[in-house]
Amino acid sequence: MSQVNACLVVINQAAKGFMPQVGMVLGSGLGSFADQIDAIASISFDDLPGFPQAGVGGHAGRLVLGQIGTARVAVLQGRAHYYEQGQADVMAVAIQTLKAIGCEALILTNAAGSLVTEAGPGSVMLITDHMNMTGVSPLFGAQGNQRFVDMTQAYHPSMNEAMRSAAKASNVTLHEGVYAWMCGPHFETPAEIRALKVLGAQAVGMSTVPEVILARHQGLPLCALSIITNYAAGMSPTPLSHEQTMAYAKLATNGVEGLLKAFLETYKAPL
Ligand code: HPA
Repeated sequence: MSQVNACLVVINQAAKGFMPQVGMVLGSGLGSFADQIDAIASISFDDLPGFPQAGVGGHAGRLVLGQIGTARVAVLQGRAHYYEQGQADVMAVAIQTLKAIGCEALILTNAAGSLVTEAGPGSVMLITDHMNMTGVSPLFGAQGNQRFVDMTQAYHPSMNEAMRSAAKASNVTLHEGVYAWMCGPHFETPAEIRALKVLGAQAVGMSTVPEVILARHQGLPLCALSIITNYAAGMSPTPLSHEQTMAYAKLATNGVEGLLKAFLETYKAPL
């Protein structure tokens, strides 16, 4: 049996007949959004074959199934990163499983550094495009023509539009920009950040892009939010640290949670 099918068996035992509409991945510091779910099941990643081990601080490592408002959701509380084991496809089974249990759309979240002064720590950015600066793909080794994924409009225009409306409804200032994926786990150098600015990035982080590629490979429409936890290297005298990332992610939590709730309350399947 494939790992995805093995996961389907486990999920079906825990939540028989449940068909989520929206899959979500909660990044660093955002795990508490799972408390908003009217949960019918919560499954540890350890019980889902091929799901990542719960890793970095702030990541619980659970799949939570249930409702937020009228939307049925399947929420990954925690994710794994390329930098943990050097495996770009570490989220492959998790993303394929979200598709297999019926998700028709995906919302990805992360913590990121800002390259623009307007978007300071604690603010929220809608990712409108990305740059993969790592030189690796989660689709290395994939077979068939489907692996040649079209990445134009990877961030779905109508989901982006719905997120803009949700931001207005929830009174959240929503910045927009291009996210550069750097491999981590070290932070960037000031020279790298200057280079990324020239290339046209507004945010930088160590996650999400492999999940975007995997989701598009599955034909899943998606949108993605960055919680800005710091100005990127060289832009502020504050030293960069994971503790700072977690502290500022918490600071932005209320706004982001309101935004996500507003999005889900008016959720319609992306056209
Ligand atoms: N760089 C990379 N990843 C990050 C950052 C950063 O400045 N902040 C939060 N995640």
